[in-house]
Amino acid sequence: SDDDRISRITSAIRVIPDFPKPGILFQDITTLLLDPVAFKDTIDLFVERYKDKDISVVAGVEARGFIFGPPIALAIGAKFVPMRKPNKLPGPVISEEYSLEYGKDKIEMHVGAVEAGDRALVIDDLIATGGTLCAAINLLERVGAHVVECACVIELPELKGRDRLGDKPLFVLVS
Ligand code: PRP
Repeated sequence: SDDDRISRITSAIRVIPDFPKPGILFQDITTLLLDPVAFKDTIDLFVERYKDKDISVVAGVEARGFIFGPPIALAIGAKFVPMRKPNKLPGPVISEEYSLEYGKDKIEMHVGAVEAGDRALVIDDLIATGGTLCAAINLLERVGAHVVECACVIELPELKGRDRLGDKPLFVLVS
């Protein structure tokens, strides 16, 4: 059942205290990747949700959106577009800054990778404050794409990242 699959996925995620800083409980998805059944269940749950939604592009956020995004894109017949940290992409880029607790960060996407009218799904491993997903949505909308939904394996609900996405739907497997 879906509940059995979610339990298996939850158990496969390792929680590491005080990484990368004291007080942070790090959600480590590398252990999920070590369990081929749980990893497949993760991909399948997303594919089942998005296969008939006419998605033309899966946008994955660096770094762990690059792990979950491509198998979903292949399974639903969509293109995959990486959203990268600054100065990594070789071609012309469009970029979006967003604020962190202390300071700023930026994500970039190749110009032309996503076109007006594309129907996008944004994938990342985890939503914390929602800043990263918010920037990803803005980038896609700036080039005229329609963001159908954002999807993450894990949500940290106490950080209220969902609120930052406004009325954009967010789907998560583990909360
Ligand atoms: C983590 C996570 C998300 C983002 C979520 O990435 O994988 O991309 O933070 O945080 P937010 O909702 O507060 O924006 P990280 O910044 O650790 O980068 P990395 O994946 O490249 O290590």
